Amino acid sequence: MRQLDLQFVRECFPAFQHPLPAKTAFFENAGGSYVAGTVLEKYMHFYQANKVQPYGASQICHAAGEQMDAGRQTMADLLGVNKDTVTIGPSTTQNFNTLAIACQAIIGKNDSVIVTQQDHEANIGAWERLCRRQEANLLHWTIDETGELNIDRLEELLDESVKVICMTHSSNIVGTINPVEQVIAKARPRGIRVVVDGVSFAPHQWPNIPVQQPDAYCFSTYKTYATHLGIMYVAPDFAAQLAPQCHYFNLDYPEKRFDAAGPDHASIAALDGLGDYFTASYNYHIGGSEPSLYQQTQAVSQLMHAHETEICANFLEGIEDLPVRIIGRTIMEGREANIAMTSDWLSSATMSQELAKHDIAAGNGNFYAIRLLESAGVKDTKDGVLRISFSHYNSQEDVDRTVDVLTSIHQNKKRG
Ligand SMILES: Cc1ncc(COP(=O)(O)O)c(C=O)c1O
Repeated sequence: MRQLDLQFVRECFPAFQHPLPAKTAFFENAGGSYVAGTVLEKYMHFYQANKVQPYGASQICHAAGEQMDAGRQTMADLLGVNKDTVTIGPSTTQNFNTLAIACQAIIGKNDSVIVTQQDHEANIGAWERLCRRQEANLLHWTIDETGELNIDRLEELLDESVKVICMTHSSNIVGTINPVEQVIAKARPRGIRVVVDGVSFAPHQWPNIPVQQPDAYCFSTYKTYATHLGIMYVAPDFAAQLAPQCHYFNLDYPEKRFDAAGPDHASIAALDGLGDYFTASYNYHIGGSEPSLYQQTQAVSQLMHAHETEICANFLEGIEDLPVRIIGRTIMEGREANIAMTSDWLSSATMSQELAKHDIAAGNGNFYAIRLLESAGVKDTKDGVLRISFSHYNSQEDVDRTVDVLTSIHQNKKRG
């Protein structure tokens, strides 16, 4: 397989031309990535040239509407789905909240919803509130001693009362790629809907909705090198069962059914630039034929993933003798390049601060996955874990610097 050309990639991100990002080894990507230049161009253009009420007879309003339509269409093309199935909201938390409220139509008294112990609060709290309102049961798919979700434990929960399973594709702490297809294969014959949180997965591997066919899939584009939005795919037959959450006169617009407000117009328009980024990367690294945007993105995503996997494996090897506990598996097979750890000798805050002194950005805390940290035995959930979350623009040099600092602060601690 071809390799990702890091120089090409970094040139696509204007951040690297600025002094702070240029000198920082940035490992806070799970909190939000740098933005591709092609996205910024579309964003700036909208604000500079067409920051007006979109659509309408005048040329300027028409142009604004066209740019927003292009952003929406590009997002659907990137995902390989019909644009009617895509809701663009301000965040994934908001989208899950809206989806859970819409699920009132299919969840009643004594019905059950399954959530996992691995999830971010965004994909638990909304369902907990729904169950409380509807007098339904919230069931917990618990993690095992390694922090992973075992399919046998899910099976123990499945009975006729279960209407929806909400799960993460990969947790923002544990990083294991969960068996979404296997869950869907078990759920669908029973008429159970599967709602997937792809926020932590999508920045490492682009979602493959046409192959996996979830009932709903959510992720956030501010973590996939674009603007601050939440994307929610809802399968048409699922959407048809749910209670719409839009103004009554917008019911005829499928993309508005679960969009109660409508986020920043420029941010929607700028999504068109994400398509440009994947296409530029496809042409540079692969080229030749002209497959669909969905196919280009799947191919480029494999290169990104391979690069991240390689340098993250080197990171894991570099810290293997340190007195640290990694939450989840310690090998790259079946996991994303998103490593959360605690140290036996140092607080997570100390590690984060020491790294910062060497221009390495890696935060600590619970990252809104408090329930997971508690179940995984992390006692101080405020100090939480140190999280080293990669993006495809990280380099081996970033990794080496981080390993060096983590090693030296542990050696210093040992010397006393
Ligand atoms: C795994 C996961 N799910 C959901 C969310 C919530 O996404 P948003 O910030 O778009 O609401 C996050 C945010 O960090 C996350 O990491």
